[in-house]
Amino acid sequence: PIITVVTRDGTGRAVDMETGVTLMEGLRDQGFDELLAMCGGCCSCATCHVYVEPASPPTEEEDDLLSGTAHRRDNSRLSCQITLTADHDGLRVEIAPED
Ligand code: FES
Repeated sequence: PIITVVTRDGTGRAVDMETGVTLMEGLRDQGFDELLAMCGGCCSCATCHVYVEPASPPTEEEDDLLSGTAHRRDNSRLSCQITLTADHDGLRVEIAPED
């Protein structure tokens, strides 16, 4: 899917990501290294926090973790908990500020 990524300095770039990987992996593969993803995708660090448009509901575990972050918004997700499919074409992802 083609995904528009907005980094912390406000710059947007459209990139083509693979399906079957997580959004966190896709972002790392594309060189967006400001996404720390410290736990490597185990849903335990919240440093892979992004805002997605259109919004999608977080899982319960994700929701708990997001509750502890300072910059949570209605469209917050942990990017390691989203597995990319063709349906994500057109998604807009903004990397959340560091906590
Ligand atoms: Fe740690 Fe996503 S990489 S919660």
